[in-house]
Amino acid sequence: PRAPARGGGPDRVPKWVHVLIGKVVLELEHFLPQPFTGEIRGMCDFMNLSLADCLLVNLAYESSAFCTSIVAQDSRGHIYHGRNLDYPFGNILRKLTVDVQFLKNGQIAFTGTTFIGYVGLWTGQSPHKFTVSGDERDKGWWWENAIAALFRRHIPVSWLIRATLNESENFEAAVSKLAKTPLIADVYYIVGGTSPREGVVITRSRDGPADIWPLDPLNGAWFRVETNYDHWKPAPKEDDRRTSAIKALNATGQANLSLEALFQVLSVVPVYNNLTIYTTVMSAGSPDKYMTRIRNPSRK
Ligand SMILES: *[C@@H]1O[C@H](CO)[C@@H](O)[C@H](O)[C@H]1NC(C)=O
Ligand SMILES: *[C@@H]1O[C@H](CO)[C@@H](O)[C@H](O)[C@H]1NC(C)=O
Ligand SMILES: *[C@@H]1O[C@H](CO)[C@@H](O)[C@H](O)[C@H]1NC(C)=O
Ligand SMILES: *[C@@H]1O[C@H](CO)[C@@H](O)[C@H](O)[C@H]1NC(C)=O
Ligand SMILES: *[C@@H]1O[C@H](CO)[C@@H](O)[C@H](O)[C@H]1NC(C)=O
Repeated sequence: PRAPARGGGPDRVPKWVHVLIGKVVLELEHFLPQPFTGEIRGMCDFMNLSLADCLLVNLAYESSAFCTSIVAQDSRGHIYHGRNLDYPFGNILRKLTVDVQFLKNGQIAFTGTTFIGYVGLWTGQSPHKFTVSGDERDKGWWWENAIAALFRRHIPVSWLIRATLNESENFEAAVSKLAKTPLIADVYYIVGGTSPREGVVITRSRDGPADIWPLDPLNGAWFRVETNYDHWKPAPKEDDRRTSAIKALNATGQANLSLEALFQVLSVVPVYNNLTIYTTVMSAGSPDKYMTRIRNPSRK
């Protein structure tokens, strides 16, 4: 049911993009932010690949992550956050999926889940501060708009998640940075904090926030579910993972919420489906419980 997005997937980079990036990569390298560009160059040199190819692989994974993200608060005020990452080419990506710990002065500065060779993060946690996940928001003409925005110094959506985990001091600062920083593509950012009511879905346009949708537990809204559609519009019938997730959360009940319960919700078909590559559950207040599981392990 989830057709790959326009231009999605490393095998589907349009030819003109390949030619264009090949021509401008040395200029691009100068105004793409560090440490990302340096890491891409380092990886490329090691693998004997061209810088243009490595940059394209990193940009290609920007464009087609179908996902379900949930942020929720239990009856005692604890915040939980979970996500499924659904993507074609699972047979390759399942083998490349890793949890990564970024260290600063020997301490874990933040944790993330990513693919080997990919410098951005779609999922991550800053311990005792906040958790973030990203879900694709496809608005069409992905490559055309993304390349135009790159030349305006907008950054890839997964790089902003990593930069926010690295730099933001608390939930509020993270939400502000994720809401305002210019991006090369639209996206949904889901953020969880450590205190009651610290949970939000940010609907992003390239230039800024289109909508901010916080938890409102005092009025019964103890969870927010985001898939790949604007929350104020109905989910399309042919891809309604949203209603299934809401039903499963309702059946769980706020009092019974836990990371295990959230994992079960993310295991209900079609929230869980054949494209699901991994499930992560996390809670910034209990950072040691960060857990990623590879899904559909035997699927080709
Ligand atoms: C890259 O090329 C160098 C020299 O040609 C070679 O020694 C090295 O093994 C190559 N590395 C990989 C990963 O293929
Ligand atoms: C974190 O930010 C610092 C300073 O802004 C930068 O030097 C460092 O490379 C960043 N670390 C990561 C892992 O992105
Ligand atoms: C979930 O529960 C809320 C509150 O009781 C209710 O309004 C909503 O219709 C339920 N949604 C589904 C999909 O069951
Ligand atoms: C919590 O789960 C138990 C069974 O495990 C169930 O009896 C109870 O109704 C649930 N609580 C809520 C609030 O749904
Ligand atoms: C996965 O695909 C198979 C057919 O290839 C189908 O029978 C099965 O129900 C699907 N599983 C899920 C979880 O969607």
